[in-house]
Amino acid sequence: DMEKQRDGERWRKGVVVLVAAPFQGHLTPMLELGSILHSRGFSITVAHTLFNPPNPSNHPHFSFLPFSHPQHSNTPISSHNLTTITSTLNTNCASPLKHSLLLHMNQHNVLCLIYDGLMHFADSVARQLNIPSLLLRTTSVTNLLAYHALLHQQNLPNFKDREGWREMEVPNLEAVRFKDLPNFNCPDSEALLKQLKKTVGVRPSLGVIFNTVECLEAQYINKLHQQYLKVPIFAIGPLHLMARQHSSSSSSSSFLKEDYTCIDWLNKQSPRSVLYLSLGSIASWDQKQLTQMARGLVNCNQPFLWVVRANHNIIVNVVGDEEVKKGIEERGCVVRWAPQKEVLAHEAVGGFWSHCGWNSTLESMSEGVPMICQPYFGDQTINSRLLTHVWKLGLQIQYNNNNNNAIEEGEIEKAVTRLLVDEEGKEMWKRAQEMKHHIRQAVTQPAASSYNALDSLVHHLLSLCL
Ligand code: UDX
Repeated sequence: DMEKQRDGERWRKGVVVLVAAPFQGHLTPMLELGSILHSRGFSITVAHTLFNPPNPSNHPHFSFLPFSHPQHSNTPISSHNLTTITSTLNTNCASPLKHSLLLHMNQHNVLCLIYDGLMHFADSVARQLNIPSLLLRTTSVTNLLAYHALLHQQNLPNFKDREGWREMEVPNLEAVRFKDLPNFNCPDSEALLKQLKKTVGVRPSLGVIFNTVECLEAQYINKLHQQYLKVPIFAIGPLHLMARQHSSSSSSSSFLKEDYTCIDWLNKQSPRSVLYLSLGSIASWDQKQLTQMARGLVNCNQPFLWVVRANHNIIVNVVGDEEVKKGIEERGCVVRWAPQKEVLAHEAVGGFWSHCGWNSTLESMSEGVPMICQPYFGDQTINSRLLTHVWKLGLQIQYNNNNNNAIEEGEIEKAVTRLLVDEEGKEMWKRAQEMKHHIRQAVTQPAASSYNALDSLVHHLLSLCL
């Protein structure tokens, strides 16, 4: 009966429709937001594309609303086709989403739409249907400020002469240099700028939710609000911790199956000895880099847990060298996909070699694990810059830009020793522990920032029910 009453109440409050983007680093935080709002008494419907769909059986409390779109080719998502896929979705999905939503609205009381920042077409759909809207940004506030700066700067004379700008600091964004901005590392910078303009230009009627924590970016949150974004900003991250704290469900939203054998392996390693390596769901090493990585890692003499999505046999095949093969067998554990949050929380892990995707960055900081930063594209260079120069929780690996981002001979050994053995790494570990503490406070203490921001978001939504 209690359950029935609760459902009745939920029904009266109305349905929050989430428009998710079909990428791992975007879908996960959106579903976590769904769990949090569900625990606060709202019904949740997830509107999603037909490719990379969420798995409904992992989320029995949600309803799902697929919308069709032109066939997506089966090429795996990479940094090279990400911009094209996103722009195709935005060009083609408005009317299918509208159609699905209209049907949904016949049966449900739709309260508002929350769309991922990449799915900006949803903004116009919400307007046409007169549904209040919120936007979820799954990247940092600093990153959005950098987009604004970039769009502003490109009007300056000579901006096309990129070389002259590379090393200069972006005005108003201390620590961030022009070469950290996404288009400086992007082969099709024009297409990217076009997309940035669109995503920066949307105006969700109710406000913007950020998967970030005030203690990380307070000054930038204020700046963003004062200069560019007049709607309310809700910094309610890290969403994975908020979901754990504020809702009972903790279901996986991984596209790939997590390999838990690596936890057994971690159980056998000594505390803080293991280097965890993963590049998230999009970036990858080419064969040459894999070989280089394997050699470097084996030379380090530290145990390592390595996520190689493509096919981890590849390492054995690529690395013909018997010595290296033996080293990997002795000290390495290689999996296609790890339960990353559990890995980072494991006491055996002493450092994280990462591409610095925003989710990985937040997850690592939430567990107090310092990082080796190897950013690839998009927001990753900015995250890396924040980690190394603002929060001082990471060190950047040296690449050779002129040589396909090859890592110089000996650099891997140097970086791993700095992080796991040297005094420098120990200091970083201490700072990471302090950061973990601040983040945890924000999530668990009533009146602390994320907790508070969630309360005001919920009030905001409840005021729509009246
Ligand atoms: C993408 C962009 O690359 C990133 O820069 C942006 O901030 C978000 O979208 P992705 O590259 O996948 O994301 O990286 P990241 O944001 O770190 O997200 C990866 C997610 O996959 C994390 O939640 C991580 O826990 C999970 N993961 C990764 C696993 O569960 N297992 C793994 O083995 C690797």
